[in-house]
Amino acid sequence: MTTEIQTRKARVLGVEGLIKRFGEHTVVDGVSFHIEAGETYGLLGPNGAGKTTIISMVAGLIPADQGSIELAGFAMTPTTTKAKAHIGLVPQELAIYPCLSARENLLFFGRLQGLSGQDLKKRTGEVLDLLGLGDRAREQTKKFSGGMKRRLNIGIGLLHRPTLLILDEPTVGVDPQSRNSILESVEGLATEGMAVLYTTHYMEEAERLCDRIAIIDEGRIQAEGTRNQLVELTGGVDRIELRGSGNTTATATALRQLPGVQHVDGGGSGLTLTVLNGPGLLAPIVAEAGRMGMTLTSVEIVRPDLESVFLHLTGKALRD
Ligand SMILES: Nc1ncnc2c1ncn2[C@@H]1O[C@H](COP(=O)(O)OP(=O)(O)OP(=O)(O)O)[C@@H](O)[C@H]1O
Ligand SMILES: [Mg+2]
Repeated sequence: MTTEIQTRKARVLGVEGLIKRFGEHTVVDGVSFHIEAGETYGLLGPNGAGKTTIISMVAGLIPADQGSIELAGFAMTPTTTKAKAHIGLVPQELAIYPCLSARENLLFFGRLQGLSGQDLKKRTGEVLDLLGLGDRAREQTKKFSGGMKRRLNIGIGLLHRPTLLILDEPTVGVDPQSRNSILESVEGLATEGMAVLYTTHYMEEAERLCDRIAIIDEGRIQAEGTRNQLVELTGGVDRIELRGSGNTTATATALRQLPGVQHVDGGGSGLTLTVLNGPGLLAPIVAEAGRMGMTLTSVEIVRPDLESVFLHLTGKALRD
């Protein structure tokens, strides 16, 4: 029999009541969260939400005004070394040498991180493979695409096998193809069992990569959970788009009587419904539309996403 203790994962990072002020301005205002081993945790929020300030405290780069941070059992402060040894921080700006090859960059930064000899050589090979840079390893990085440089930047953060890897908006300003290769690399980290703290203002990235997501705005966590838990906060209202012809007015009247259907709008070429549990109601809606003589040409369920959640919680769009 599995007990709760056996199934509970190890806590890697615990953040409690973090507060940071710059002058009069409180930019991080009571932030608490934790990350477990092997988990990818996202901070999703718009520009100026406080993401970089939070991770700068988590990485021990700046002190918190209040609150505590514990990493791998050690308290994190700017003066501690034990907790810092467990962190890999990938900054938003590239920090690689253009005249060195990818391998030489990794060897150089690996030595700075205290690796040497066979261990450094072996780890460099592993990281190059993990990031899909193995066959270009001996080229000067100035010949690399933007996406390859960013992947190498991530590799440098990974070399010393950190317990927690922190990535600060690693895809900002890169083209869609490079972005995809970076996301694939981050997905690969889960296979290494690494805990990842990932900041972004792209909801698609948070949805794709993160096991749990904190929606952050104005220095506060507005809500936290899995993607599905967050979406439930909107009340789980789906939209169903029915396209087709027939007596749409009578169909609309009939559909309004179905339990779970909140609104029915439209006419002419189709109807738009807002419903609770779209997938569950789809079959009865289609059947009722058929019974009322409507000929359907297409049916689509549009489910709420993290954008809807952000709007619901803050009254603002995540993107301008
Ligand atoms: N060193 C500083 N001195 C004064 N204010 C600062 C400092 N660093 C950040 N801020 C302010 O704190 C707030 C949060 O900034 P932060 O960089 O943490 O946001 P962010 O969520 O990382 O945004 P972005 O998505 O643009 O990177 C902003 O209003 C910013 O102007
Ligand atoms: Mg930032």
